[in-house]
Amino acid sequence: MQEISDKANAVLEEIKAATPANTDELELFRIKYLGSKSVLKDLFGAMGQLPGERKKEYGQLMNTLKASAENKLEELKASFENGKQTAKDIPDLTAPGIDIPLGTRHPLSIVRNRMIEIFSRIGFVVAEGPEIEDDWHNFTALNTPQDHPARDMQDTFFLSEDKNQLLRTHTSSVQIRMMESQKPPLRYIFPGRVYRNETISARAHCTFHQVEGLYIDDNVSFADLKQTMLYFAQEMFGRNTEIRFRPSFFPFTEPSAEMDITCTICNQKGCAVCKHTGWVEIGGCGMVDPAVLENCKLDTKKYSGFAFGMGIERITMLRYQVNDLRLYFENDVRFLKQFTSAV
Ligand code: PHE
Repeated sequence: MQEISDKANAVLEEIKAATPANTDELELFRIKYLGSKSVLKDLFGAMGQLPGERKKEYGQLMNTLKASAENKLEELKASFENGKQTAKDIPDLTAPGIDIPLGTRHPLSIVRNRMIEIFSRIGFVVAEGPEIEDDWHNFTALNTPQDHPARDMQDTFFLSEDKNQLLRTHTSSVQIRMMESQKPPLRYIFPGRVYRNETISARAHCTFHQVEGLYIDDNVSFADLKQTMLYFAQEMFGRNTEIRFRPSFFPFTEPSAEMDITCTICNQKGCAVCKHTGWVEIGGCGMVDPAVLENCKLDTKKYSGFAFGMGIERITMLRYQVNDLRLYFENDVRFLKQFTSAV
């Protein structure tokens, strides 16, 4: 009896002292003390050799043994499951963080915002109008009646059979909306998207963006228009930029001009962008035709004004030397993410 109970006590000590460090070692512990060929099995088997009066005492010892092995197994199992992490699993807290990629502004937005900022410094306020327009605001009020040949210049997307609903072909429609609803002095810019039924190519697109300007007050002159355009060109493209006005025609301005700036790409040495002329066109402008003021019920004896319209794509191309319009609309991230710097 002494011998086997000594042995059993030794096993009990062993169980108490065992320190399985991970689930693999715990499994070995289970097999050793609780498996089908365990040490405890042998000790249980020895019970048969004992005299009857000793059996009870020995049986209790064996139960203690088994219970302590089982408890230890359960405890360790639970602790491994809760904290699977061991010291070597803890991440390196001194390692540099992972960058979260930030979005970038679209180049057209960067340039539009810059244009707004430049004009707002001399008192122009942003206003917007609808992209779905009617005939009156897009054409007729702008002195472009039904049969006017100038309508052909702007291949229009009509939205209704009677052609009274259309996608605006220029932001000049917002001029009319403002002149109809506000009293002079008016000093606005209208940035926005416009549509024309053009075949898409590197140089033309069916949708593009303009910034329109309108200034109506008493005593507004062509000199004011020129100075405003010069100010804009130099703020946008640098102090050395010069401007040039070429006579042109728009039904809603008289006189009208096409505006050029000195080529920012070659500094007037001659390049493909300026077609070796040293000048590039950035928009149209002129004095608001009195017929337009009358359409908006403004007193033509009292008020005069100028208007201009510039293509944002055009200015962005000159700013960033992007030569294919389609890139602005494809939303290829590889293209877009290059424009992170402010203009
Ligand atoms: N609306 C004209 C265009 O889209 C540009 C323009 C605006 C011209 C204002 C003169 C005055 O071509």
